[in-house]
Amino acid sequence: MKDHRLGAWSWPLACLLLLATLTSTTWAAKHGDFKTCSQSSFCRRLRSLSERSQTAGFHSPYSLEEGQHSPSSQQDGASWTFPINTELYSDIKFALTVDFLEKGDGIARLRVDEVGSKLPWKRYNEAAKWALVDAEPALTSVGNVKKGSSKGQTVFKYGASGQLELVIGHAPFKITFRRDGEDVMYINERNLFHMEHFRSKEETPAQVDGGSEDQQVFSAASSKKDTAWFEGEPDGELWEERFSKWTDSKPKGPEAFSVDISFPGVEHIFGLAEHASPLSLPSTDGGRYTEPYRLWNVDIFEYEYDSTMALYGAIPLVHAQNAKHSVGLLSLVASETLVDVTHPKSGVQTHWMSESGIMDLLILPGPDPSSLFKQYASLTGTTDLPPQWALGYHQCRWNYIDDTDVLEVQRRFDEEDIPLDVTWLDIEYAEEHRYFDWDKKHFPDPVKVQNEVGSKGRKMVAIVDPHIKRTEDFRIYKDAQEQNVITKKADGTTNFEGWCWTGSSVWVDFFNPASWSWWKDMFSFNVWKDSTKYLYIWNDMNEPSVFDGPEISMPRDNVHHGGWEHRDVHNINGMMFHRATHDALVAREEPAKRSFVLSRSFFAGSQRYGAIWTGDNMGTWEHMAGETSMLLSLNICGMTFCGADVGGFFGNPTPEMLIRWYQAGAFMPFFRAHAHIDTKRREPYLYDEPYKSIMRDTIRLRYTMLPVWYTAFHEASLDGTPTMRPQYVVFPKDVNGFAIDDQYYVGGSGLLVKPITAASMNSAEVYLSDNQPYYNYFNHHMYPASTSRRHVTVPAPLETFPLLVQGGNILPIRERARRASTLMWRDPFTLVIALGRGGEAEGELYLDDGDSFGYQRGEYVWRGFRVVPERGQTVVSSFAKVEENGTSLTSYSATGNEWARKIDGVRVEKIVVLGLQKKPSKVSVDGEVTELEWVWEAGKAANGKSEGTASRLTIKNPSVQIVRAWNIRIA
Ligand code: NOJ
Repeated sequence: MKDHRLGAWSWPLACLLLLATLTSTTWAAKHGDFKTCSQSSFCRRLRSLSERSQTAGFHSPYSLEEGQHSPSSQQDGASWTFPINTELYSDIKFALTVDFLEKGDGIARLRVDEVGSKLPWKRYNEAAKWALVDAEPALTSVGNVKKGSSKGQTVFKYGASGQLELVIGHAPFKITFRRDGEDVMYINERNLFHMEHFRSKEETPAQVDGGSEDQQVFSAASSKKDTAWFEGEPDGELWEERFSKWTDSKPKGPEAFSVDISFPGVEHIFGLAEHASPLSLPSTDGGRYTEPYRLWNVDIFEYEYDSTMALYGAIPLVHAQNAKHSVGLLSLVASETLVDVTHPKSGVQTHWMSESGIMDLLILPGPDPSSLFKQYASLTGTTDLPPQWALGYHQCRWNYIDDTDVLEVQRRFDEEDIPLDVTWLDIEYAEEHRYFDWDKKHFPDPVKVQNEVGSKGRKMVAIVDPHIKRTEDFRIYKDAQEQNVITKKADGTTNFEGWCWTGSSVWVDFFNPASWSWWKDMFSFNVWKDSTKYLYIWNDMNEPSVFDGPEISMPRDNVHHGGWEHRDVHNINGMMFHRATHDALVAREEPAKRSFVLSRSFFAGSQRYGAIWTGDNMGTWEHMAGETSMLLSLNICGMTFCGADVGGFFGNPTPEMLIRWYQAGAFMPFFRAHAHIDTKRREPYLYDEPYKSIMRDTIRLRYTMLPVWYTAFHEASLDGTPTMRPQYVVFPKDVNGFAIDDQYYVGGSGLLVKPITAASMNSAEVYLSDNQPYYNYFNHHMYPASTSRRHVTVPAPLETFPLLVQGGNILPIRERARRASTLMWRDPFTLVIALGRGGEAEGELYLDDGDSFGYQRGEYVWRGFRVVPERGQTVVSSFAKVEENGTSLTSYSATGNEWARKIDGVRVEKIVVLGLQKKPSKVSVDGEVTELEWVWEAGKAANGKSEGTASRLTIKNPSVQIVRAWNIRIA
C-alpha cells in the first residue's frame, strides 16, 4: 500500500499524496519497489545459464556416482544416496538422496545438498518441517521399489503395480519420471541444474583485474579451471548486494541453485500461486511476459491484474496436464524462487531458480488431477472444516469507527433483511495500532459490543498484525523483549526494528518455539480480557510488511531462530504467524471450538491454518475478472478457503460493478466485502432500488447454497479437493477446456458458475464439456445434452449471472432467509434434482454442529441422495454415505450420533425435479399409502431433447427427514 511506505514522512503530507494517488485514474504497481530478475544477483546468474545452454559444447558439469542404499533410522526404508561430482570444482561434493514415500501412491522425493563443506554454514533444510504435515514422511519399504542399473543409469520401479519409474542418468545427470512406460517429467534435461557451493570470502574470490573494488571472480581458488562457460562472467554482487538504498550483507555469499524441469507432451501447466496471471501459465520468454513467475511474499500496492510479479503468498507447486495424464511437482524451498516457463513444441519447460536452501523436490505421480490433490494433501494437509458461519457473508471495511457504527451496521442489515454473519474491525479499533489494546475512546466497552453482536447469532473479527509497537508501556512489546522472541538484525543479537502502521516496531520471530505458548496465552480470555468467544482474528501484513525495508519487507540478512537468515525462511514467515494464531484460537476454549483466522501471506501448508484472501485488489472490471483465475490457482494449490475483497479494495465501484462483485463473491469460498479507508461507504443497504434488492438477493442466494458449500468444504477437508474446480480438474480429458479460467464448478455439486466481469453485459457464453443437460438455476431453462462440446449463451441481466446445474446432480439447499447462518440449523431443506440425460442424479449433504470438533468423534450427518430410473418409475432415495461396523453413523437410531438425534425432525420441505420426461401419475413415499402433493409444469423442452424451459415436478412437503433413509416413488 502506498501509505505503508511513509517512513518518517509526516502523515498529513502522506495523506495528501495518498488522496492524489487514489483520485488519479492511472493505477499501477510501483515497479521500482520490487526487484526484477536482473536486479537480483542470483537470478541474473541462473537465468543467464539458460542462455548459455544454447551454445555449442554446453553440457552439465555434474555427474553421479553409483547410488547406495542410505543408512537411515528407517533401516528398511526405500532411500538411496548418489554422490554428485562437478567438473567445475574438483574438491566440491554434493549428494542426491532419492526417497520413495509410503503415502500418496508413490511420491518420490529428490534432495540435493552440498556435503563436506569446510565452512561452518548449512543450507536451510527446514522448509519441509513447516510445510509438510510430517517433515520426514515415512518411506515405503525397500522391497516395494525395484532398483536396477544399466549403462550408467539407475532405474527404480515403484508404485502400486510398479507402473512408475524413476530413471537416474549418471552422466549426463538427468532424471526421467515415467508412468506406464511413458516419459512424463524430465529433471535436468536442459542441463540447468546448478548448485553454488559455499565458499569463503577471504580465501577464494580474487579481484577482477581492472574491475571495481568490490567485484569478485565467481570461482574458487581451489579450481584452476575456467568455469565461466557454465557459471557465466564474474558477478560483483556475490557477497554484498544493493537494491535501491539497501545493502544486503549476504554473510554466506552465493548459495543459489537452479534446476530445469520439463513436461513432455504437455501444453498446460498450472500452479505457482500467487500470481495475477491466467490459470494455465503463459510463457515468460517474451510476448505476454518477460519476467519469470516470482515467489517472494510481498506487500504490493496496486498490483497488476496480469503479471508475473510476486504477490503476498508463495506455493512452489505445479500441475502438468494433458489428455492422458497429470503429474505434479512441489519444490520445497522458502527462499526467493523464480520460475521461467516456456512452451516449445515438445511440451512445457520450466526453469526454477532459488536463492538459498537445499533442493527438495517431490514428484506427485498423478495420474489425474484428483489424485494430485490427494497426493499433495497427504504431504501438506488440508483445510480443517471451518466453522460453518465462516462461509456466510462477512462485512468489512477499513474501518467501522466505533461501537455505535458496529451496532448500526447490525441494525441496518436486520432492517433490510440482509443476512450477515461477521462484522470486521480493521486496524483503527486498536489504540495507536497496538493490537489487543482497544481504543477505548471509540470502543469503551468492547466486551459489550461483541456480546451484542454475538447475541444476534453473529461473530466479529478483529485484526492483529505482526508488527509490535516499540513502546515500553505496551505489554506485548515488553513480554516479547523479556521472552527474547524478537527477530534479530544481521548481527544475530540486536532486535530488528522497522516501520509499520504502529510507527517504530519489532516483529516476533514465530520460528522460535518460545514464542508459541506465549502467543497462545495472548488470546486466552483471562489474558485478553477485552475479547470474547464471539471474536475471531485477521492476520494481515505478515509477508512481513515493513514500510521502510527492502521491497517493503525485512532485510534478507535478518536472523531467525536457529541462526537462519530471513532470506532462507521468508516465504514461510507469514505461515508461522498464521499457525501461531490458529493454535491460540483453538486453545482458548474448553471444549475447543474451530478457529477462524484470515491471513494475507501464505506458503505450502498454510491451508491447515485457515483462510486467505487476494489482498489489495482494485475496484476495476479487469481485477474482478482476474480474481477468478487467481482463486482457481489458489484452489489447485491447496488453498481451498480463499476469497477476494468484494467491491475491490481501492476505488468506488458503480452500483452495477458492485452488484457484479457481489455475484462473484457469493460464489467464492470466502465471501467478504472490504474497502479502503478512503472509499465511500458501500454497505448494500445504502443503495437505492433496484440495486439494494439485487444485492440482498445475491447474499441470500449464498445462504441458500450454504449446505452445498459446507459439503464442498467437507470434501476438501478430507482430501484437498478444491471447493472451486476449474474445467481441467472436472474434465481432465477435454483439452479444449484446459485454458478456461473464467468459469468453475462448486465442489462436487455440479453447480457451474461464470461471474460477469464486464460492464453492460446481458448474457455470457459458457463452455460445456460433457454430454449432459445443463439447467439454468434461476429460470430452469435447459440446454440439452449433446455429444459435441459447445458454448451456450446464458442470459445475464443485472439480477442474475450464469449459474447452471449440470444434469445428474442433486443440490440440497435451504431457502429460508435468516439473519445469520447460525440460526439456520433447524431449517428444512429443498432438494433440487437436475436429472441427467438418462434420468439419473446423485448428490450429497454433510452437516454437523458447525463449530465444535464433535465431527471428529463421528458427530455428523453425511447423506447421499440418488435418483434411480427403474421400470417406468423414478425413485428418489436418501442413504447414509458412511457406515461403521454395519451401523449407519448418520441415521437416527438408538446408536446414531448425538448430532443426528438433535436434528432428527429437520424436514425436506420441497423436492424439485427438473427434466422428467413425462407427467407422473402418482408420487408417494415408499411404504405409505397417501399420495404426496405435487405440481407438474410441462416446460418447453419437449422430451428433454430441445432447448427450452425444463419440465418441473414440485413435490410439496414430502414429510421425509433429512437424517433418515427413505424412498419416494414417482410413477
Ligand atoms: C492491508 C490489507 O491488505 C487491507 O485489507 C487492510 O485494510 C489494510 N492493510 C489496513 O489494515
